[in-house]
Amino acid sequence: MNSPYLTVRNLKVRYGSKELVKGISLDAYRGRILGILGESGCGKSLTCLGILGLLPPGLSSSGKITIEGKSTTESREYLDSSITSIMQNPVSCFDPVYTVGNHFAETLKAHDISDYSTVVKALEEVGLSRESRLLDLYPFQMSGGMLQRVMIALALVTEAPFIVADEPTTDLDAINQTRILTLLGKLVNRRNLGMIIVTHDLGVLAKMADDVVVMKDGVMVDSGTVENLFDHPGSDYTAELVEAHMKLSGETEEILS
Ligand SMILES: Nc1ncnc2c1ncn2[C@@H]1O[C@H](COP(=O)(O)OP(=O)(O)OP(=O)(O)O)[C@@H](O)[C@H]1O
Ligand SMILES: [Mg+2]
Repeated sequence: MNSPYLTVRNLKVRYGSKELVKGISLDAYRGRILGILGESGCGKSLTCLGILGLLPPGLSSSGKITIEGKSTTESREYLDSSITSIMQNPVSCFDPVYTVGNHFAETLKAHDISDYSTVVKALEEVGLSRESRLLDLYPFQMSGGMLQRVMIALALVTEAPFIVADEPTTDLDAINQTRILTLLGKLVNRRNLGMIIVTHDLGVLAKMADDVVVMKDGVMVDSGTVENLFDHPGSDYTAELVEAHMKLSGETEEILS
């Protein structure tokens, strides 16, 4: 394996004296998907926001984050051009008074990109190039699946080699979930992207991820390859998650058979 694209060492996120993320360390590579798994409230989103340098006001972080060996705290511009994000709830991530075209224009401007062909290419890659009048549509005029595709296209336009996807399919129906996850997998291969996918669904991880970090109450309780996670869980908590997942999928199969 090559050297990691992104390294995180001892990332902590605090709210006043309360530690919400308690020392996460991980390595992520281009061409591989790293899953962050854990139950609601364990600190997955704050870990992502800490990595992206986008923590909300009132929260602070410490630790060392590097991209290709360079510390991300040195330059906001470097961070923005190296890593981008797809967020959990597409509806709330779009400005309701801006059209899709406005959102692309904003992104191009923010990243100082003048070549509009990047938008055409990105829309093609997410399967939206045939949508007529797409650029004139407002967020409320689109389905959740379409919005998520637009959000992925916006991430691609930045040409950042690494994407953080925080629960990119939670608000979608099963068919759109599969479509979006398949699309993300293809993009990782086609563009040799690195990706973090946050999920609480072990089934999604098993299908998508190469590497995994498991979190509980802000603590990283396990990490390794997906195969290892299933075959040799590194913590009682992971073993419990795997067992619950196996039981549930076994029961589903039984019902369906
Ligand atoms: N802006 C904030 N100020 C104070 N506490 C916060 C803030 N945002 C999150 N928290 C707290 O930090 C903890 C971790 O939150 P986080 O959003 O990272 O969880 P999560 O693992 O992403 O959960 P979910 O799966 O529900 O999205 C939670 O206890 C949450 O209440
Ligand atoms: Mg979250």
